[in-house]
Amino acid sequence: MDKVLVLKEINHAFNQKPIFENLNMAVAKNDVVSIVGASGVGKTTLFNIAAGLLTPTSGEVWINGVETTGQAGTVGYMLQKDLLLPFKSVFDNIALPLTLKGYSKAKIEEIVRPQLTHFGLQGLEQQYPQTLSGGQRQRAALLRTYLGDNPIMLLDEPFSALDFVTKDEMYHWFSQLQKRLELTCLIITHDIDEAIYLSDHLYVLKGEPAQLTEHFVIPKHEGFLDSQEYLVLKKQILTAIQSP
Ligand SMILES: Nc1ncnc2c1ncn2[C@@H]1O[C@H](COP(=O)(O)OP(=O)(O)OP(=O)(O)O)[C@@H](O)[C@H]1O
Ligand SMILES: [Mg+2]
Repeated sequence: MDKVLVLKEINHAFNQKPIFENLNMAVAKNDVVSIVGASGVGKTTLFNIAAGLLTPTSGEVWINGVETTGQAGTVGYMLQKDLLLPFKSVFDNIALPLTLKGYSKAKIEEIVRPQLTHFGLQGLEQQYPQTLSGGQRQRAALLRTYLGDNPIMLLDEPFSALDFVTKDEMYHWFSQLQKRLELTCLIITHDIDEAIYLSDHLYVLKGEPAQLTEHFVIPKHEGFLDSQEYLVLKKQILTAIQSP
């Protein structure tokens, strides 16, 4: 299988306190992988290491067959708090990765305009973030991450700020987008239904130091989400998270 993101024997400690010990993980192209686990277990830290924002005490990160340990800018990364800048318009927020690359205004227009429709943001681009709904803000943050032009995206609780109805719409919208753009996504979430709905694989991060202790392959067949099998799987995942 074609593994686009590989973590090899990752060890990390903060102030002598071990967070990870020999953690291994491999993600295949176009897969959506959810990572669940208790608060404080190390999920965001794992993303920071994978994204090269943090160099682990030891171990290696490989992206598309190249070692990238401690190198930033190798994946798209949507942080746990969607950091839209309040003093910039939605358009300028979204265009930020392109502006940072030094693209001309015309070039930026050419790239961003067609994407506004795909991300359900057309007509909102001149507004400011605080005038958007939570779902619109998260779509803007996702589009900005996508424009970083990386088909591998790490999304840290991307839908956590949304109510139940909006979440449902966003899941559907995101799944379509992921397939159309052939994205490889890692998603951190506390919502098991979300994890099952969105992902092909689910890992439980657990323990001190933390390990990916359980791996579930999520069935995708028609009718699964309304089946007894779904409830059984959800229970298994919850038990895995909660058991010591
Ligand atoms: N820069 C840092 N320096 C020292 N300790 C840190 C640092 N970053 C994180 N930690 C600690 O490492 C542990 C893991 O933090 P992390 O943010 O990865 O947890 P998390 O699983 O993402 O939690 P949550 O679900 O609440 O977001 C926590 O105990 C946290 O206090
Ligand atoms: Mg976190």
